[in-house]
Amino acid sequence: MWVIKNKFVFIFSILAVTLFVFNSFVDDNPYFKITAKDVELKIPQGFPKPFYTFKNNKLSADVFMLGRKLFYDPLLSGDSTISCASCHQRIAAFGHIDHALSHGINGLIGKRNVSGLENLIWKDTYMWDGGVNNLEVQPINPITNPVEMNETLEHDVYKLKHNKQYVMLFNKAYHDTIINSERMLKALTQFTGLMISANSRYDKYMAGKDTFSNAEKNGLVIFRMKCANCHKEPLFTDNTYRNNGIKPDTALRDLGRAAITGTDRDVNTFKVPGLRNIERTYPYMHDGRFRNLKQVMDHYANPEDYDTGADLSLHKIGKLSEKEKSEVIAFLKTLTDTEFLYDKRFMDPDMRQ
Ligand code: HEC
Ligand code: HEC
Repeated sequence: MWVIKNKFVFIFSILAVTLFVFNSFVDDNPYFKITAKDVELKIPQGFPKPFYTFKNNKLSADVFMLGRKLFYDPLLSGDSTISCASCHQRIAAFGHIDHALSHGINGLIGKRNVSGLENLIWKDTYMWDGGVNNLEVQPINPITNPVEMNETLEHDVYKLKHNKQYVMLFNKAYHDTIINSERMLKALTQFTGLMISANSRYDKYMAGKDTFSNAEKNGLVIFRMKCANCHKEPLFTDNTYRNNGIKPDTALRDLGRAAITGTDRDVNTFKVPGLRNIERTYPYMHDGRFRNLKQVMDHYANPEDYDTGADLSLHKIGKLSEKEKSEVIAFLKTLTDTEFLYDKRFMDPDMRQ
């Protein structure tokens, strides 16, 4: 009798332990758990003061986790098929691998190439034409765009209020029962705003912690002479709008910055994109016309073919030899930040791995 009883206790304990372990993986996967330390805003060495400071959006682990859930949730779209992450894929540095123009709801094709997401708090404006000047309101654009997520903020809030999991998550994040669009947008901003990329080989080289091959070193020299005027270090953008010499696509008729300012001078100028993780965010340019960096370099090194309105500083580039082009490409690849790309904080929390 005594033996049997003990056997029961033994089996029961094994069961309890198994259940506990299983549960902790399913409900609260520790791999994806975010702590207060994970959401501290650390300004990387040499970076300027950010434009967006989280002053009115106090960083917290629970708000960040809410934002992450929202970012990966197709619930935010009109027919629950498209999430932010459908277009902004982590593995493509939050761009969209292999799509020239964005693909949204009902298979509809947008007008522009999906931007990679990184170092957003250092941008004063967003989108290729700078049409949005506040990171917090930026998501309204894709959410309400009929060819992207085709939804209204009011209906998103309605869906969140009727979803048990979100009721719990909002409560955890804000310690009351209010669910509104402002909070939804602020949570998304904590998630996207903390996407800071500053640990590439380039950064390590600059800090004296890594070495460059000769090709990479030469590439950096050429880059500083011919490209850094617009793609200014360390963010690789000077936040201006320029015509980088690509001829307008007559089918798309994208006016660029002029669509916002209505000024002739701004026709066919676009926001200078940051180049961090550029190896991953192909295809390139606002319309995704170039499939790889070789095509980008062929464009810049061929002044005869520049658009008539090309920025004057482009003429500093001149002809580049094949060797020089490949050196610049070798340098650009040092901007790939694998720590950022594989940072668990930005992974889909519902992904089981
Ligand atoms: C259907 C595809 C699609 C979806 C869904 C989408 N985006 Fe985007 N996103 C884009 C495209 C395309 C651009 C560039 C748009 C432009 O310049 O007009 C962009 C630009 C951005 C930018 C500006 C980047 C910069 O550097 O200027 C941010 C931030 C952003 N998206 C966040 C989000 C968030 C948050 C969501 C979810 C609420 C989302 N996106 C959903 C396609 C998408
Ligand atoms: C006059 C300013 C200027 C100069 C100089 C310049 N660029 Fe650009 N670059 C831009 C602008 C503006 C865009 C976006 C253009 C567009 O999409 O219409 C861009 C786009 C790019 C892109 C594509 C980015 C993406 O996310 O799709 C790459 C790569 C690039 N430039 C690399 C370079 C290199 C390498 C050099 C030097 C050989 C260089 N640029 C010189 C302004 C400049």
